[in-house]
Amino acid sequence: MYSPQNAKELQKETISFLKKVKESTFDTKDIEQLRSILRFHEYRYYILNDPLISDFEYDQLYKLLEKTEAEHPKLITADSPTQRVAKGLTKAFPTVQHLVPMLSLDNSYNSDDLLDFDRKAREATGLDKIEYCVEPKFDGGSISLIYENDLLTRGATRGDGVEGEEVTTNVKQIRSLPLSAKFSDYGLQQIEIRGEVLINKNNFKKYNEALMEQGIPPLANPRNAAAGTLRIKDPSEAGKRNLEAFVYHISYYSLARGKKVPDELTNHSNSIKLLWDLGFRSPEKERKIFKGIEGVIKFCNEFEEKRDDLPYEIDGMVIKVNDFALQDKLGMTSHHPRWAIAYKFKARQATSKLLNVEFQVGRTGAVTPVAKLEPVAVGGVTVSSISIHNEDYIKEKDLRIGDAVLIERAGDVIPQIVKSLADVRTGHEKKIHFPKTCPVCESKLFKEEEEAVWRCINIECPAQVVERIIHFVSKDAMDIRGFGEANVRKFYELGLLKDVPGIYKIDFKKISELEGFGQKSIDNLQAAIEGSKTQPLHRLIYALGIRFVGETTAKTLAQAVNHLLDFKGYTLESLQNLEDIGPKVAGSIHHFFSSKDNIKMLEELEKLGLTLKNEKKELKSGGSLTGQTFLFTGTLPTLKRSEAEAMAETQGGQILSGVSAKLNYLVVGEDAGSKLDKAKKLNTVKIISEDEFLKLVGKK
Ligand code: IVH
Repeated sequence: MYSPQNAKELQKETISFLKKVKESTFDTKDIEQLRSILRFHEYRYYILNDPLISDFEYDQLYKLLEKTEAEHPKLITADSPTQRVAKGLTKAFPTVQHLVPMLSLDNSYNSDDLLDFDRKAREATGLDKIEYCVEPKFDGGSISLIYENDLLTRGATRGDGVEGEEVTTNVKQIRSLPLSAKFSDYGLQQIEIRGEVLINKNNFKKYNEALMEQGIPPLANPRNAAAGTLRIKDPSEAGKRNLEAFVYHISYYSLARGKKVPDELTNHSNSIKLLWDLGFRSPEKERKIFKGIEGVIKFCNEFEEKRDDLPYEIDGMVIKVNDFALQDKLGMTSHHPRWAIAYKFKARQATSKLLNVEFQVGRTGAVTPVAKLEPVAVGGVTVSSISIHNEDYIKEKDLRIGDAVLIERAGDVIPQIVKSLADVRTGHEKKIHFPKTCPVCESKLFKEEEEAVWRCINIECPAQVVERIIHFVSKDAMDIRGFGEANVRKFYELGLLKDVPGIYKIDFKKISELEGFGQKSIDNLQAAIEGSKTQPLHRLIYALGIRFVGETTAKTLAQAVNHLLDFKGYTLESLQNLEDIGPKVAGSIHHFFSSKDNIKMLEELEKLGLTLKNEKKELKSGGSLTGQTFLFTGTLPTLKRSEAEAMAETQGGQILSGVSAKLNYLVVGEDAGSKLDKAKKLNTVKIISEDEFLKLVGKK
């Protein structure tokens, strides 16, 4: 049976099962063992973030289980790793009652509030010092989970605290929640656990980028994304969003016959450890215990400093009286327990006034309304203008000029208007009217059916031309430093730059006559323009600003061809054969490469010296390191990490992001850490120095 503790044994068995896959010698009697192995690797990946096998190897074992279960349906168990995947759509989420009402927490905002909380708790208990357990306050959607006889039987949203919606199928998609856990080892028969469903910052960013690539307004924060995903009707779509969950509270349990309350359930920190030991992601590594409130205050302040470094959002800390007997003594109000309090970090929300709306024309002609606001500080940044996306968005949020609005800036996410505060309207607020003509070139605006965006379709509209150039030179595109938005606008207005190829024909002599352009800045600009000519193909594709083609799609496209102009011959169908390219994106790419003007521009760029060839692809297939995988760790004596990686890649090598059985070479520099230890344990990885690496790539 899987237990997070017997890692060595399970890893050994993994190797033997992988062999069985290869030799087709798997016997159905070992099916439960195979499940344990899969659960173990899910735990390593989703809870510990420290996988021991590659995705490919995991998939092989998973497929073996899937195949065996398909051949012998009687062997399927409710907690089999295959049972997370649900088919079809959920029709409705029935209302269910929580076993224990899901109370909220009282809030505190400063050390005085915490001192006050501690004083009341001491007075009520008659103690001099109270032991507290402090952990992060996860900023997601709350859930309640019920396990019965070790099986996950129900997942529900908070709802009104008494009743919530049953979202079990979606909860089962969350890989950091075990479908079964050995509560019976502790004499527990039924248990209700509370936790928080999150989407990590990285996945949230990707999700929002995908929305924006499709012209859909992004979500304001990961909390809305997580809570919304829990209520999605298509479980496979919910699965794709990669939700995660932390569990932090046992709200109810019943004991199996003749069993006593286990020692683990006498205080909070032990209950967190119990959940961790059973394979849950509880805040076992993050929580800390303090005798007295002084340490608590210090810890809360320290954690706030680290807030932005965490992979997920937290909006504060939760301080809990550790001892359960004391918790009972303190009791609760109808709203919150008296034994716990939330310490809220500095708000990333603020209210402001919507003063006016300006309409900006983007590089694709999309006209975007931008709300001009009374400047307000949100999470350390002053915000005075925010995109409000499109006409539908304005209607949906019922935004009006003069409204008080709530603004949020979640981490490094672009600030968003959460809502207008309709309750405090004076009656003088004005409706926002969308223009009928382009605010820059005055040509008529168009809106396609089923689209929310109004567009200026005059390809020569000065606003579009300038925006296309700004995008082309930007950091994530061709990264031409020293050009920047202000210079593009200036050069365009002065007639020194009129289109993208113009960047490479710019008259430096004329620029040197402009105020503020010394020889040094001209030299730098010239070098940056020259340097951009050899940017990899995917950057150039992204820089072209083709609608719906973000950085990810640009990489897919770059890998597909030997030369950019090969896309001239691609049909809609062949484009859709590429990974993750649907009809809409394919249509836009096809449209771009069907335009004579665009082809002319690309030919001109090539003549001007830009790389339209996919150089990596050509080398990759014939390189001496084809099929070999590499990872670099520690500080290398002479090479920069990026240089070393590029060397391996040019010879056909592939760079991996972590140590796994898939890795062939670990190149080790000074101060190499856990990756080296892990590679040593694996026994299959060749550990080499920079010198040996240079010999391998023929540079020595
Ligand atoms: S304890 C009976 N611990 O914050 C008290 N709550 O604003 C149970 N939350 O409703 C809650 N992280 O959804 C607790 N470590 C944590 C938490 C946490 C996030 C949420 C929870 C609660 C809300 C209150």
